[in-house]
Amino acid sequence: MRTSKDFFRPLALGAPAPLSEIPARPSRAIHFFDPSNAKMAAKIPQMVGTVDILLGNLEDAVKADNKEAARAGLVRIAKDTDFGPTQLWTRINALDSPWVLDDLTTLVPEIGHKLDVIMVPKVQGAEDIHYIDRILAQLEAKAGLERPILVQAILETARGVANVEEICGASPRMQGLSLGPADLAADRRMKTTRVGGGHPGYLVRADPDQPDAPRATYQQDLWHYTISRMVDACAMHGIYPYYGPFGDIADVTACEDQFRNAFLLGCVGAWSLHPKQIEIANRVFSPSVEDIVHARQVVAAMGDGTGAVMLDGKMEDDASLKQCLVLVRLAEELAEIDPALKERYDAIEVAN
Ligand code: GLV
Ligand code: MG
Repeated sequence: MRTSKDFFRPLALGAPAPLSEIPARPSRAIHFFDPSNAKMAAKIPQMVGTVDILLGNLEDAVKADNKEAARAGLVRIAKDTDFGPTQLWTRINALDSPWVLDDLTTLVPEIGHKLDVIMVPKVQGAEDIHYIDRILAQLEAKAGLERPILVQAILETARGVANVEEICGASPRMQGLSLGPADLAADRRMKTTRVGGGHPGYLVRADPDQPDAPRATYQQDLWHYTISRMVDACAMHGIYPYYGPFGDIADVTACEDQFRNAFLLGCVGAWSLHPKQIEIANRVFSPSVEDIVHARQVVAAMGDGTGAVMLDGKMEDDASLKQCLVLVRLAEELAEIDPALKERYDAIEVAN
């Protein structure tokens, strides 16, 4: 049995001490790039400051023949780029692949001091996180790193979903979870062929008014159950949930809807597979000015935070105040790194 004291001790002599809390850093869009693609790689320095996270992808979508070039490309980009306020993440290859060990033993010594989070795909249970936890501690100790590299698991297997709580609690390195709808659909044997998003066949139909009258249908959300489980598991462990990829790049409307559903349910961000999805994620995962106006009114009206008040005919109390504080705090964190957003939130003060 690992005791709570052991949990916060480094897993290798000389490795940095684990964090007792995961910092809430803005992470609305996790923008994926293929470091073996010279055209994409050349754009990375100009993207710094325009997106919360740049992620060098080494796993799926990188051809087997390009795995080594992608790893080397990521090392080069990380060394040559000043990332300023933008976080640098990577998605390593799966733990059952022949590439993952080289990913870890190359990236940590070469660019570990620049890597904020390592995303681990196809996590099945706590044992996968324990493996990564120990090996990262050994590599961090060897490289003399001063802060621990955090880990995010992708929830994309049925076993991973069944074990979601133990995955979130497996290590103090756990930063969060992303939903991987494409792999998860395959693993669950869902009958879809898309990368995330809805499906027109997944619907409910209104009861008939008359025997032959037309009946409305309503498309349902394929991902509601999984996102809700993911959000609860993350909240329980003080870490962060993310929606994953939306593959239909041209369908910006449905992408926005999917991202907004995830935001409303508690996610803090989503993946971006194309620069146009960055703008969608930045907008959707930032509280709206209207919500912040209302939230600030509730905070002001609730005084010491107890009791109940009526605002515009609606009852507000301790619990609605807590919801408002979630939004106000998120707005403050985002405003610190996003000057355009800060201006919009500050304009409210002036208007008030
Ligand atoms: C992402 O990796 C997915 O499988 O959806
Ligand atoms: Mg996947």
